[in-house]
Amino acid sequence: MKQAGRVVIITGAAGGIGRALVEIVAADGDIVVAVDLPGCGVLELAGGLGHPHLSLECDVSREEDIVALHGRIEAQFAKIDVLVNNAAIGPAMAATIDTGFEAFRRVLATNLIGPFIMAGEAARRMQPGAAIVNVASLAGVLGNPKRNAYASSKAGLIALTRSLACEWASRGIRVTAVAPGYVRTPMVAELERAGKMDLAAVRRRVPMGRMARPDEIARAVRFLASAQTGYITGSVLTVDGGWMSFNQPGDAHTRRSARRLEPNSSGRKNEPMRAQWS
Ligand SMILES: NC(=O)c1ccc[n+]([C@@H]2O[C@H](COP(=O)([O-])OP(=O)(O)OC[C@H]3O[C@@H](n4cnc5c(N)ncnc54)[C@H](O)[C@@H]3O)[C@@H](O)[C@H]2O)c1
Repeated sequence: MKQAGRVVIITGAAGGIGRALVEIVAADGDIVVAVDLPGCGVLELAGGLGHPHLSLECDVSREEDIVALHGRIEAQFAKIDVLVNNAAIGPAMAATIDTGFEAFRRVLATNLIGPFIMAGEAARRMQPGAAIVNVASLAGVLGNPKRNAYASSKAGLIALTRSLACEWASRGIRVTAVAPGYVRTPMVAELERAGKMDLAAVRRRVPMGRMARPDEIARAVRFLASAQTGYITGSVLTVDGGWMSFNQPGDAHTRRSARRLEPNSSGRKNEPMRAQWS
């Protein structure tokens, strides 16, 4: 999957999934432009990778920051091959009647309007063969009580992905999205710390019985950005351990189902549990 030498912009680069993606992209021989908020450690991140990688501080909720960012990138590289819109503010888990207008607007500014402006600025400078990958969420696909702003922003990002894919297909720019389920990153750890999420219950709800690792999401992003997916545009790839495929009451992953799939003494796998009607 190596396509060395591409200039790849990654927003939210200092976060859980962002850091994993930075490592994978750099290891592939591509040039990382790591973007994140001032003071969050992004400068040290690409500094550690060395030349020719670049770190830039930018608040993606501010149009003037984004315009300045692209000016810097253009001056240094004169091209953009891949944009990954990964930066986001996580869900507040507040009841809708307790969510103020400003808080709602702040989330949309970062999670939806930021990616829209980033995509426009990048597309102006992209050549045929370029790709944009938006990091959405299952929250943008399924109903999510108490995640109103976050879920709306991610649903909007998915709609934007499909619209831009159609609009820019004739220019040879592909636009896709990944929709992760739960990922073990600082965003989720923070929700757990604040007592806003029961991670044991989450694991039981995932058919694979665990949350994703950040690198598993990063690899899906890399795949969609690669030439291997040259005929894929407008698609939303769920990366969720089976969450979206489960349609029964109760737990999707039980000790019993896990045990029955363990190898028996002959080394062969036991029969999986018989499917139940939904
Ligand atoms: N962790 C999960 O379970 C999960 C699930 C589904 C989707 N996602 C999505 O994956 C992406 C990465 O999330 P993560 O879990 O790594 O979260 P994270 O909080 O670890 O990382 C998010 C990064 O975005 C940066 N950021 C926030 N606001 C910004 C702004 N205005 N300008 C620039 N950067 C900004 C933060 O500083 C942070 O480094 C997000 O889009 C998130 O919505 C995460």
